[in-house]
Formats: sequence, structure tokens, C-alpha cells
Amino acid sequence: MTKVRAAITGIAAMVPPYILTNKELEMMVDTSDEWITTRTGIKERHILKGDGLGTSEMGSAAVKELLKKTGTSPDEIDLLICATVTPDMIFPATANIISNKAGIKNAFSFDMNAACSGFLFAVATGSKYIESGTSKKVIIVGADKMSSITDYTNRDTCVLFGDAGGAILLEPATDDCGIMDSILLADGSGQPYLHMKAGGSSRPPSHETIDGKEHFVYQEGQAVFKFAVTKMADISAEIMGRNNLTGEDIAWLVPHQANLRIIEATARRMGIGKNKVMINIERYGNTTTATIPLCLWEWEHKLKKGDNIILAAFGGGFTWGSIWVKWAYDS
Ligand code: ACO
Repeated sequence: MTKVRAAITGIAAMVPPYILTNKELEMMVDTSDEWITTRTGIKERHILKGDGLGTSEMGSAAVKELLKKTGTSPDEIDLLICATVTPDMIFPATANIISNKAGIKNAFSFDMNAACSGFLFAVATGSKYIESGTSKKVIIVGADKMSSITDYTNRDTCVLFGDAGGAILLEPATDDCGIMDSILLADGSGQPYLHMKAGGSSRPPSHETIDGKEHFVYQEGQAVFKFAVTKMADISAEIMGRNNLTGEDIAWLVPHQANLRIIEATARRMGIGKNKVMINIERYGNTTTATIPLCLWEWEHKLKKGDNIILAAFGGGFTWGSIWVKWAYDS
């Protein structure tokens, strides 16, 4: 029997218009364009401005564009999964809010939180609903308003993050294209190095947590860097090895965009030249769950049916993963 795979059949993204440059950050904290560029590769990032606008603003804009672009009616969607660490609210799920804004009424929807690896976790999950025959059209959203949890008085973290949302459509394919393999991992012992201290059930919001700035990203950069650089490279090499793929076979590496040095180390380990690595960190910074769809969206016009693409990510949790995709269409 022919194997049914989940193929990516469309992609869209929303980037808010306001651009926060390194120059502007130099006026906010004790930093420099030179430090940010050499340590991270980031030059600017986009920030969502406007009262009451949350992650669903970007996620729903991306979904509406995706539906338009692929000629899909909202009624045809069976499932929408939103990967995010900055939900509009603790509940209901931002996926439900996005579905409502995009007119999706016949689907079930839920959020997934695997920090920066969230998009990959959601793609792997959504693809199982397609492979099993349970769903025919699944939307995966990666959207984060990182500016809502970033302390713009802390130079350690405020230079790193940006806001954006992306969305892909998954549909069944029987022509040996689509999501070919995935490896996902998590290690909860990484929690002390990257987390938000308060706002959850173990430490609900209070005057004390607000005064202590505990509702922002807390990161021990060097410790996270060490894990990220080895784990993202290891898992990308592993998915290639177990599928007999070499650097020659890979058309594109799509790495999570947290730090240019981590991206370069991963590409080196995989034997992939920089010309085959999607890198846009200089313009968007780390948009958490949106980095990978944002890359695919920007490079879509260069992708060809049958291209072997490796998606790779590392994030808070710790979480990490890689997915081998055979691209399903000529753009
Ligand atoms: N400008 C100037 N100096 C700075 C800045 C800044 N913006 N930030 C930190 N520094 C200083 C530090 O205070 C320190 O000074 P000191 O030596 O006098 O103490 C010095 O620069 C070095 O600081 P480090 O933290 O060691 O710098 P490092 O080279 O490690 O770079 C960075 C920091 C960019 C955060 C890096 O560690 C990194 O990329 N880590 C991994 C991030 C990641 O992958 N996160 C996972 C995904 S995010 C998620 O899941 C939500």
C-alpha cells in the first residue's frame, strides 16, 4: 500500500512593521551594535506595537494569508495547532483565538509549548493526524510576541528577541514527498537555565513578582549556548545518518535562528556549505517558534519539488529536534 505522508503545501507569515535596530538598543541599555552583531549575528528585529495586540494578531494574519494563497476555505481545515510561548492568555488556547479570527469553525485546535522547538514539535504532531487519515488539512502556526516577555532594561536578553508569526498547511501526499522523518527530544533538567520565573501555577503573579521582574525571559546564556550548539548539531547529524543522507543530498538546512554561531556550528557538523543554510537572524532576531516558518516563507521561491530539507531547533526546556522534509511543490 502507498504510504501517506504529510506534505507542506503552502506557507505564509506576518512580520509586524516596527523595526527595533541595534542603534536604538544602544540608547536603551549598555550595549553596542558591534557586540550584538559579533556575538549573535542580529542587526534588527520586528516588534508588534499596539494596545491589546497579542500573538494571535500575527498568527491569524499568517493563517488568513495562507488560506488565501492556497485557495483553501476556512471550513476545510480539520485541525490547527499553534506553537507558542507567549499565548494571548493562559487560557483559552491561542490556537482557538486564531481559528476564530480566521473563520475556522469545523476544526479542533490547541496550543503546544516546546519553546523554540515548538514549531517542530507541532509539525511532527500535526503530520501524525494526516498520516493516520484522521485529518486532511492541518494548519501549524508558529507565532510569538517575545517583546511581551522581554525586559528592555536587561542587555543580556533584550537584544536577542523579536516578534513574528508563520503558518504552514499540511495535506496528505502519496508521491514520496512531505515529512519523511523526525526526531524530537526534551530534557527537563535544563529548566534552571532558561525559563520565566513567575506567572504560572507554582508562582502566580503578585506585586512581588512584578517588582522582581519575574515575568520576563530568564536565560543563562553561556550554559544554554553549550547545550544548543551540541544538541542541534547532534540531532541534525543523527537524522541524516539514519536516513543515509550526506551533506551533498541536502538542498537546505533550516535552523532555528537563536545565534549565528550555533547555526554555523550545526552546518559545519552536517557538512553543509553556508550557501545552503537559510539565515535571516540579522533582520528578525530570535522569534522563538516563528523562526523556521519565517525562513521557509522567505526562501519559498527557491524551493523545488523533491528538495531534501532539514529543519533543526533547540529551545527552552530544554527541547530540541530535527525533521527531514522532502519539499512537495515547485514555487
Ligand atoms: N551588550 C554588551 N555586553 C553584553 C551584552 C550586550 N547586549 N549581553 C551580555 N553582555 C556581556 C556580559 O555581561 C558579559 O560581561 P562580563 O564578561 O563582564 O561578565 C559578556 O558580555 C559575555 O557574556 P556572555 O553571556 O558570556 O556572552 P555570550 O558570548 O555567551 O553571548 C548569548 C550571550 C548571545 C546569549 C549566547 O550565550 C547565546 O546565544 N546563548 C544561546 C541562546 C539560545 O540558543 N537560546 C535557546 C533558544 S531561546 C528560547 O528557547 C526562548
